[in-house]
Amino acid sequence: MAFRGASTMIKTIGVQLHNRMFRPTLGLGLGQPRGLQTFTLPDLSYDYDALEPAISAEIMHLHHQKHHQTYITNYNKALEQLEEAMNKGDTSKVVHLQSAIKFNGGGHVNHSIFWKNLKPTREGGGEPPHGALGWAIDQDFRSMEALVQKINSEGAALQGSGWVWLALDKETKKLRVETTANQDPLVTKGANFIPLLGIDVWEHAYYLQYKNVRPDYLKNIWNVINWKYASEVYENEIA
Ligand SMILES: [Fe+2]
Repeated sequence: MAFRGASTMIKTIGVQLHNRMFRPTLGLGLGQPRGLQTFTLPDLSYDYDALEPAISAEIMHLHHQKHHQTYITNYNKALEQLEEAMNKGDTSKVVHLQSAIKFNGGGHVNHSIFWKNLKPTREGGGEPPHGALGWAIDQDFRSMEALVQKINSEGAALQGSGWVWLALDKETKKLRVETTANQDPLVTKGANFIPLLGIDVWEHAYYLQYKNVRPDYLKNIWNVINWKYASEVYENEIA
């Protein structure tokens, strides 16, 4: 009975992590059900070179095909191991797998959001929001310029690897800037936080083009930010 309690708890954590991180609207590339749900690399809605000169085709190709794919591969592997460990009643293994699930599952969810946060400039990338989100940004940060400055400054100051987010706090209905370390998804900061915009500040996101100058990458990425997507998420959440 003691094991059943622990097993149920861990299984619940796994399933909840899944459900909370992988919102159905994200299009995360669910694999064919075969008892265990696996994940596949989601397609981009633009070509690898479509974000140039802000982000080079080489970075986009590697970032999507290699980095994101690796998170997915390792996440699927960890989920298979989790299922096997639970079936065997191997609680130590179940607990051990949690960090791999968080890291690789987080990497998958974060990158899936990131691709949607980008849009070629010629297709409207970089155009600031004018509707409800634009108004909320003015209310909560004084201006778009102040928000960009805050995100750039927190993103540049983030030590090591991680993400900087524009989040909606569903409880207070306020916008916030948050950072997460490594591949921690925004939900680790609170279940009430909805990601509107997530910027990857891992070196793999900019180093080939910007070398160690992360602030230049952060400055230029605003030319390809998909505010339309952020606005849609915002409007759905506050409706
Ligand atoms: Fe990345």
